[in-house]
Parts: sequence; C-alpha cells; structure tokens
Amino acid sequence: MCGIVGILGSKPVAIDLVDALRRLEYRGYDSAGIATVEKGKLDRRRAEGKLRNLETRLHEEPLKGHVGIGHTRWATHGRPTELNAHPHMSDRVSVVHNGIIENFRDLKQDLQAKGHKFTSDTDTEAVVHLITDGLQRGLKPIEATKEALSRLHGAFALAIIFAGEDDLMIGARQGSPLAIGHGKGEMYLGSDAIALAPFTDTITYLDEGDWCVLSRDTSVIFDKGNRRVDRPTIKSVASSLLVDKGNYRHFMAKEIHEQPEVISHTLGNYIDMAAGIVKMPALGIDLSEVNRVTISACGTAYYAGVVGKYWIEKYARLPVEIDIASEFRYREVPLQPGGLSVFVSQSGETADTLEALRYCKRNGQTIASIVNVRTSTIARESNTILPTLAGPEIGVASTKAFTSQLSVLACLALALGRARGTLSPETEQELVKALTELPRHISTLLHNETVYEELAHEISKARDVLYLGRGVSFPIAMEGALKLKEISYIHAEGYAAGELKHGPIALIDENVPVIVVAPEDELFDKTVSNMQEVAARGGQIILISDAPTERAGCRLLAHIKMPKAHALTNPLLYAVPIQLIAYHTAVFMGTDVDQPRNLAKSVTVE
Ligand code: G6P
Repeated sequence: MCGIVGILGSKPVAIDLVDALRRLEYRGYDSAGIATVEKGKLDRRRAEGKLRNLETRLHEEPLKGHVGIGHTRWATHGRPTELNAHPHMSDRVSVVHNGIIENFRDLKQDLQAKGHKFTSDTDTEAVVHLITDGLQRGLKPIEATKEALSRLHGAFALAIIFAGEDDLMIGARQGSPLAIGHGKGEMYLGSDAIALAPFTDTITYLDEGDWCVLSRDTSVIFDKGNRRVDRPTIKSVASSLLVDKGNYRHFMAKEIHEQPEVISHTLGNYIDMAAGIVKMPALGIDLSEVNRVTISACGTAYYAGVVGKYWIEKYARLPVEIDIASEFRYREVPLQPGGLSVFVSQSGETADTLEALRYCKRNGQTIASIVNVRTSTIARESNTILPTLAGPEIGVASTKAFTSQLSVLACLALALGRARGTLSPETEQELVKALTELPRHISTLLHNETVYEELAHEISKARDVLYLGRGVSFPIAMEGALKLKEISYIHAEGYAAGELKHGPIALIDENVPVIVVAPEDELFDKTVSNMQEVAARGGQIILISDAPTERAGCRLLAHIKMPKAHALTNPLLYAVPIQLIAYHTAVFMGTDVDQPRNLAKSVTVE
C-alpha cells in the first residue's frame, strides 16, 4: 500500500521524511520519493526500489527545505519506475497520493488540451496539473486546491505543498486514511500514526471527505461541504504497537473502514488502470488451457471462494468446484491433470486448507493461493501466490481480508475469461472500470452508520436471524449470518432465497428478523416473491438493496439503501452492510467484538 508523510519542520526535513517512510515500509512499496520547498522553489528526489536507493540519491544531491512531503508507492497506474514515483510536481505544486483518481483520463485530456505537459503514466499527475491550472488563473493555493478537490472522483488521500509557501501544507482524505500529527512548532501529515510516532503522539484523524490546511502552528479542517469542523485529537500508542486502532473503538471498525483503501491497493496489483485491463502474475499454467478450477477454503475465505465460483462460471464459462477445506481433504475427489486449484486464506496457515492444498498438489494440479500473509506456509507451498494487500487484520471476524479476497477472485475470473475468449475486450474494459469505481461506492456507504445503530436494537432482541440471497448474493447472505453469529452470538443462518420454502420458512414469525440481500438485478423479482412469503407470516424484513422501496411490495422493518453499481461488484459492495449490521449489533450487546469467545484468528489445527 502507498504511504504518505508530510512535515512542516523547524530544520531540514529530508532525513525525518525518510525515517517516517521507513515506518510505512510494512505496507509494501516499489519506489519512493520526497519533495521539499527550498528558498521558495520545489525540488524532489525519487528512486525505484527500496528506501536505501532514495537515501543514496539524497546523499548525492541533498534536499534542504524545511517543508516537505514523502511517499512510498505501490504501483497502480503505471509501472514502478522513477518517472512514475511520487512526489509528482509542476514548478508551482507538488503532490503525493494514495488511492485511485477514477476520472483522471478525462481530467488529463482537458488539461492537455489547455497545454499542460504530462511526464508520467500516473493518475496523480492530473491532480498536480489541475491545481497548477488554478494557480495560473490567479487563485491562491488554498482556493486552487479546493477547486481541484471538487473535481476529483475516487477514493484517495493527498498531501500537497507549494512553491513560494514555506509554511503551508494541504491534506485531503476521501477513502484512504490520513492523520495530522501535532508537534511543538512543527506539524505533520501521515497515512497512519505509526509513521508519525518518532515525532509526536498527538494525532487528529481526518474523517471521510475532510481536507486540512496546515501551518507549523495551526491546523484547520474542512468537511466535504467546505465547512470548518473540529475533529478529536487523541494520544496515539502507535510507537509501541505496529498497528493501532486509530480513533476507532475496535479493530473491526477500523478494518471495515479501511476497505476502500485496501481494495484500491489490491486491485492496483491486478489491474493495468491506464489500459483498463487485468494483469495477473504468471500462474505457471496457460489460462486458456485450464479445464477445471477447484477452490477450497474455510470460514469467511470459503464464502469468498463461493462468490469466485459464480464469477468464474459466468465470465470464463469454466466449471468450478468449491468445497470447505475440511470436507474436501477427505472426499477423495478425482482430479484430472490440467486443473487449477485455488486456495483462499487470510492467514495462509489454516490446517485444513493446507492439507487440501497438499492433496491437490499430489494429484497434479497447479496451485494458486490467495493469501494475506506472503510468508505463510500456504504461500510457500503454492506454485503462485496471488496476494491480497489488506495489511494486518487484527479483528478475529474477517472483513477487509474478505473483500480483498473477492477483489483478487474477480480479477482472476476476468483473466480466465480473457484467456478463454469468453470476454470481449470491450466487456473486460467495462468490468475493470466497474472494479475501479468500487472503492468510491464503499466510501459512500461508510459515511452514515446511524441506520445500523438503530437496527442493532431490533436484532439484539432476536434469538434467530435468517439471511436470504439469490445467485451471487447467496454467499454474501451466508457470510452475513457467519459475521453475526461470530461476534454477537445470535444464531443466524444464510439461505438461498429459493430454498426458504423447503424448511426455514417454518421458523418465521414476528420475532425472526429476515435480512434480504437483493440488488436490483435479473433475479430481484424472484427474491421479492420470497420476501412476500416471509411478510405473509409476520417476519420482520430488513432489505439491503438499490431498488426503490416500493418494489419490495411488502412492509419492511428497514431498507438499507445501496448505491447503484455494476453487477460484478455487488458482492463486494453488499458485504459492507452485512459487516456493519453484525458490528453494531455486537457493540450494542457489549460482546468482545475483536476477540469473540472460542474463536481464533488463525486455526492451525484440524
Ligand atoms: C478462522 C477465523 C475466520 C477465518 C477462517 C479461515 O475461523 O476466525 O475469520 O475466515 O479461520 O482463516 P484463513 O486464515 O484461512 O482465511
């Protein structure tokens, strides 16, 4: 993941910037750079690869400015070259950026038409020229930035400095985290408190949509509507911990809110944003010749795999077999040569998943693992690793790892589709575009949690909760039920909506909340019929849907209104409300959200 840092210092800041970047190394990166303002002029040093390369560059040609920004880059738009490394700059402004500017192509075209010269393949450079354009029209730095921010679409964090401004830095957060650090006569910006720990433990986290104007002695924060706002300042414990909760009550809440960012980074690893196509690492097998895919996993990772099955079957027209690893390993499954076996695991250490992997390996399958820990046993025993870039997940109930796993599986499905000729280039571009828009949609969803707090009162009274979904929403319903039982200890089951009448309908009465996951797709009307069967028996329906409320055709306890998105991305999007329902219900009930009873984060026994 990219890391951002900025310092308004009382002495040259280059060494401190590199120190702070070193503390962000854990996020992963492939190039780095810093820029400072010296005697009113902007200058920068950048280098491919590790920070020591940047240090060598700085040693050869030091930067002496007292205000500066730094960046570690995980390539998304454009290869990891020095030319694409951040900071990006004109003679007026320099920018570091984390996330995706979705409309950068349109912006770039406009700006090029006005004569702005682009020197990199990045989306970030559009921000530089957008602000420069405002400055050239006579706007002051704050006004030019405000105007530029209003034109950016996507999920991102930015730190910005200006030529001729020795006491000014601007930060913005929309989907990717950013924190202000308060020093004595110094001010800082960072992707997290860990980066800033050597300088200060006094931290203000920006909220979604916030932007801030910093000097050495002042920090002024504005919300999305450009109204001045106060955000709490906290004492961070980041110096002693590698990961902290930020200003969240629980790791789970923090990890839910990190999703726009980690999905951006994970997608960045598998998508060539500029070309609008997927780019998978070599899988050790010709994808056009794969004759069958076998997916195996446990818990939440298994549900990610089920979504993967729907996608691979739909977009690549390939038969997919999926099973829970503990069943698969003893099933004596006949496997033909030429098969691809995919294992999904956050920890990469789950014993059953590992044994399933070994079984497939013995039976001549090519092994690809989707793991969050690259050094894990499952990763080591695979032919290819498809990493999720979710960062450390601390909450036992998996959230950001799940949506990162889905992000990788979606890209795998598209790569298989392209290789097998079942996806036209136009469709691939359309689907890739839908994926890149996803972080923004998820950011929007995370803006208002009041509805979940209210629902928590109702759900906490229930003994049983049913989750229904049809098609690719079925695994999301199952994951919803798992989340709720894991952390609130309320019994919950996820069912295929069409299966309701074959048993679970017997449970329905006015005390059973039924949570229906139903995007307005070609299956929506079928699910509506199932909802009516529930309503007719007095069940309390909570609908999660982008459809107008009237289309439900029955009384609802609540309607969680979803943004309209592409069908491909709906499972990722609908995963968020089911996480928030479980989280707020557990908080309301006072359970141990991050470490629920009897559960372990990594299960290394059978
Ligand atoms: C445990 C965790 C779950 C997780 C499952 C699989 O049960 O509590 O959150 O989904 O293991 O773990 P893995 O590390 O293989 O994804």
